[in-house]
Amino acid sequence: MDSPIGIFDSGVGGTSIWKEIVQLMPNEHTLYLADNKHAPYGEKDKDAIVQRCINNTELLLENRCKLIVVACNTATTNAIDYLRKSYKVPFIGIEPAIKPAALQTKTKKVGVLATKGTLASSLFNNTAKLHASGIEVLEKEGTGLVELIEAGKTLSKETEQLLASYVNPMVDEGIDCLVLGCTHYPYLLPSLKKILPPHIKIIDSGEAVARQTKAVLLQGNLMAATQNRGVVHRFYTNKGLDVLRGFLEGSDVTIAHLDF
Ligand code: SIN
Repeated sequence: MDSPIGIFDSGVGGTSIWKEIVQLMPNEHTLYLADNKHAPYGEKDKDAIVQRCINNTELLLENRCKLIVVACNTATTNAIDYLRKSYKVPFIGIEPAIKPAALQTKTKKVGVLATKGTLASSLFNNTAKLHASGIEVLEKEGTGLVELIEAGKTLSKETEQLLASYVNPMVDEGIDCLVLGCTHYPYLLPSLKKILPPHIKIIDSGEAVARQTKAVLLQGNLMAATQNRGVVHRFYTNKGLDVLRGFLEGSDVTIAHLDF
């Protein structure tokens, strides 16, 4: 099946998921939409998020994508039910990794750093109820972090200080696992490793999402042929190219501007 895997995000964060997918399935073509012009999704209301997801999905389907990865926690938690009901193509979403955190915590206290839109969603709250009963889940909105990452300031002092102001109070309350509930946040790992005490486990969903994508492709007999030659990775952004280029340095990809 030579059609691409479609991936979209509000911007550059989903490239953390794209990297896991390409590593696990090197024969697959991919097509990635970075909706940077409308980031952050986390500050929008549910209807506006669903509308952006419809727009991205239709563009990916026009480009013959065989499966769509919603590489954004906010988009997943607000829109994936609607997308699954409305389109035939399989969708893979990114849910905050509360279940693995609940299984690993010894202090029975887990921190979740995510956007306002994710933390307010019913999917997030149901996941927390289902998988973390008997565990205290401390939630923190990462207000401003996505904007800083989208501006290419991932490793700046300003970003590190803002991040510390969010995670330090959770550390003081005794968490031993921190769930990164936004696909932009894995890019904050260098700063998190400086800020957090070494016993705190940082958990994100990237690898699990790539494994789930592969499982669904296998199940639907949709995997590309092995030894696929000339694998193509296309990226479209509706804003400037430079920030996205920075996140994809060293990868063999084409990046272009497109209004969507
Ligand atoms: C955002 O656009 O606000 C963040 C994306 C995410 O939640 O993964």
